[in-house]
Amino acid sequence: MARPLGLVLAIALLGAASVALLPLVSSADDDGYAHCEGAVKSWADSAGEGDDGADKLNLKDLLFFLHIPRTGGRAYFHCFLKKLYTGAQECPRSYDKLRFDPSHPDCKLVVSHDDYSLTSKLPKERTSVVTILRNPVDRVFSTYEFSVEVAARFLVHPNLTSAKSMTTRLLKKTRGVSTLDIWPWKYLVPWMREDLFARRDARGIDNTRSSNKVNPYDVDDMAMPLHQYINDPVAHEIIHNGATFQVTGLTNNSYFDGAHMVRHCVRKHPDLGRFVLQVAKNRLDRMLYVGLTEDHEESARLFAHMVGAQVLSQSGILNLDIQEDPPSGTDPHSSMLDQEDEETNEHMNSTDGWSSNDALNTTDDDHGKGNMTVGKLMETYESCIASLRKSQSNRRKISLKKVAEANFTKAARRQVPEAILKQIISLNSLDMELYEHAKNIFTQEHLMLKGQHPVVVQDKQSAAQKDWIDMVCDSWNCSTWKVVALGLGISVTTVFIVFAVTSRRTLKLKI
Ligand SMILES: *[C@@H]1O[C@H](CO)[C@@H](O)[C@H](O)[C@H]1NC(C)=O
Ligand SMILES: *[C@@H]1O[C@H](CO)[C@@H](O)[C@H](O)[C@H]1NC(C)=O
Ligand SMILES: *[C@@H]1O[C@H](CO)[C@@H](O)[C@H](O)[C@H]1NC(C)=O
Ligand SMILES: *[C@@H]1O[C@H](CO)[C@@H](O)[C@H](O)[C@H]1NC(C)=O
Ligand SMILES: *[C@@H]1O[C@H](CO)[C@@H](O)[C@H](O)[C@H]1NC(C)=O
Ligand SMILES: *[C@@H]1O[C@H](CO)[C@@H](O)[C@H](O)[C@H]1NC(C)=O
Repeated sequence: MARPLGLVLAIALLGAASVALLPLVSSADDDGYAHCEGAVKSWADSAGEGDDGADKLNLKDLLFFLHIPRTGGRAYFHCFLKKLYTGAQECPRSYDKLRFDPSHPDCKLVVSHDDYSLTSKLPKERTSVVTILRNPVDRVFSTYEFSVEVAARFLVHPNLTSAKSMTTRLLKKTRGVSTLDIWPWKYLVPWMREDLFARRDARGIDNTRSSNKVNPYDVDDMAMPLHQYINDPVAHEIIHNGATFQVTGLTNNSYFDGAHMVRHCVRKHPDLGRFVLQVAKNRLDRMLYVGLTEDHEESARLFAHMVGAQVLSQSGILNLDIQEDPPSGTDPHSSMLDQEDEETNEHMNSTDGWSSNDALNTTDDDHGKGNMTVGKLMETYESCIASLRKSQSNRRKISLKKVAEANFTKAARRQVPEAILKQIISLNSLDMELYEHAKNIFTQEHLMLKGQHPVVVQDKQSAAQKDWIDMVCDSWNCSTWKVVALGLGISVTTVFIVFAVTSRRTLKLKI
């Protein structure tokens, strides 16, 4: 009985397999386009389903902070989330895929570079997702800079072999999790490290420095130049359009088995990217909160009100001063850029870190947090972020000692030829468009929050408009942007703002 059944099954499977292979074979002549189109479309169909996001603004049981690398997420992790959640509430080993265990009881917070496909491991209908997006060109720059920075720390070793073995030994001893365990750095840093050592070896013992170049992004005797970095297959695999792939769960690090095929199809046939982009936009639309690295002060304020307030109120705290206007920041927002998010052991260790200079510490019980308010949360955030910035910029200085020529600054970015910027923009066209979408969402969040503050609407309204324009044109690559993507986005948004403000005014007059 078993044998005939097995035979029938085998034949059936064979039949199914050949049917499945048919499109592959038949489309060989059009470079796999038809096959790719089918794969991408069917993925998009299955990824599109889900709730309509009607109650997206309500914080659910579990908060998933989808941390896109180099967007400043670390500041939120340390200066907000650790003030709001206790160590026990944080899902263990958040950043470390291998040891991630969402079944942990009481676990209410996941912060991770893992992509959206992580939600397949989470109770989806009880999970709220938040994220931060950044101007893709700056994100690529920052990724490059951070790769060099972390890799350069190994240059204290006499050679690559010794650097590698020392790291392994150290990690075993401390049982810590380093940057080298965390995606995407586990690929990007060793790659850059190998390159730095090779260039050092090539310079020889005299260490004669030929380059007297002004452009730190192109000191080829010291470090891999930016133009080489962005054109490497590793960058294509991991960096470009990284935000879109992360929001859609299609990264190199996905939990979804089909991710690699879909991603490769989109890279090979760029016009299929529109399906992925649509899924990404829908995902952002359904998130509880979307922040912008560029507008970090307003992003933080929105985060405190949209997420922080709910965490506080859900943990049974009634002393909620949501009407209170938080203290305005003293730092210009530009100072925030490029000093964010560095990945270290601290991510993994919820008991160490920054508590010494904090008004509240992370091991607080509910009683300790009982007096926390949104206003206080913002105050705590401001002082926390100031010390975070300081320590990060010190760290960078020390790390880059051995490649002093790579003194990356925002001013130095202007030395980078226009052609390279254009190339980055074109390599990240999906992210460029997603970022535009995120800015629209951000404006809506902003308006919504203002809706809760009718008293301050009048005096803040012109500032809001100015912020919006500033945000775009303060950016060093404003002109390129305008040409490529922004023109339409700005006009639509401006019209939207004007409309919203006008209708609110009208409403007030009626009342
Ligand atoms: C690397 O450096 C270590 C320590 O100085 C040395 O023992 C080893 O021989 C070196 N290896 C190579 C391949 O040069
Ligand atoms: C976490 O922090 C504690 C206290 O600072 C330290 O003893 C421990 O080794 C750290 N664990 C990891 C994995 O870094
Ligand atoms: C992810 O990218 C890295 C670097 O290009 C590569 O070595 C690795 O094999 C990739 N992983 C998958 C699952 O494709
Ligand atoms: C953190 O809070 C706990 C409990 O509220 C307290 O015992 C501890 O001393 C605090 N630590 C610091 C550094 O303030
Ligand atoms: C918090 O509130 C309690 C009473 O609810 C009070 O005894 C305590 O002093 C307050 N703590 C702070 C830091 O304000
Ligand atoms: C960067 O370093 C180089 C060489 O060390 C120096 O000539 C240059 O002036 C520095 N640039 C900035 C912007 O500090």
